[in-house]
Amino acid sequence: MLRECCEIELHESKEYPPSREELIKKIRDKDALLCLLTDKIDAEVMDAAPNLKVISTYSVGFDHIDIPEATKRGIYVTHTPGVLTDAVAEFTVGLILAVTRRIVEADKIIRSGQWDKPWNPYFLTGPELKGKTIGLIGLGRIGVATAKRLSSFEVKILYYDLERRWDVETVLPNMQFADIDTVLSESDIVSIHVPLTKDTYHLINEEKLKKMKKTAYLINTARGPVVDTEALVKALREGWIAGAALDVFEQEPLPPTHPLTKFDNVVLAPHIASATIEARQRMAELAARNLIAVLKGEMPPALVNKEVLKIRPLEKVKMI
Ligand code: GLV
Repeated sequence: MLRECCEIELHESKEYPPSREELIKKIRDKDALLCLLTDKIDAEVMDAAPNLKVISTYSVGFDHIDIPEATKRGIYVTHTPGVLTDAVAEFTVGLILAVTRRIVEADKIIRSGQWDKPWNPYFLTGPELKGKTIGLIGLGRIGVATAKRLSSFEVKILYYDLERRWDVETVLPNMQFADIDTVLSESDIVSIHVPLTKDTYHLINEEKLKKMKKTAYLINTARGPVVDTEALVKALREGWIAGAALDVFEQEPLPPTHPLTKFDNVVLAPHIASATIEARQRMAELAARNLIAVLKGEMPPALVNKEVLKIRPLEKVKMI
């Protein structure tokens, strides 16, 4: 799609993601950037690109881009919401089942030759979902899609968000709005679905983890820095919670020596919640459509910084 209307410089070298130096060097003469969530796009990068009109990220999250700096410079920032919602919700359910029903642990036991006795009643037992309370921190697109799927397990869902979602409660009568501390203290499973912002950085810290039940599990498919990793390691070590399933980390890739890798009651995934073939294809298409729309002076399907329209109207960025 991009090649049909633009000249492209594709980062194809072995070094992945591109170094900051390379990004700054290559972006100098570019009108548009299609980036990944591993590319930190801040004022320094934007200053190096005086022609830049659009930053299209191949991700729904945009915490790697300094939005106010982009807006100030009249740079359009676009992302890929909606198209990966189902993939992430499906994966979240997968993580919940994996950690509570100890699926990864079970697989390891067989492979390491530890399945040495036949069927026995209390081997690898875990909690049943039916009748439990699930807490959702954040009820945006992904939170709602997760709630819909989990509802089929006949659970009660407590959710916390900045706004009460009457529309969702109408469709899912098992849902109840609550403050964050109630969600944490009453839920058997807490799943995080907020974006990373300065307000959600380390939202789940030592104090919040202490509010959780000793039998509860923490699931994170949102962004690593929403959880204070050190506090989580302490919580797992000291048994404040029963376990965790994590797809995102403060440090990515997570080193194999990291303390989180030492717990059997922790399921780890390498930031793959949106990794269905379908979602990744749709993300690619939407990222391309967003970028092309801006260069055509048309409203992109998923604009992050709407205020930019006043700073540099679409007709001023039109070039194809
Ligand atoms: C993945 O984490 C995304 O933000 O798309």
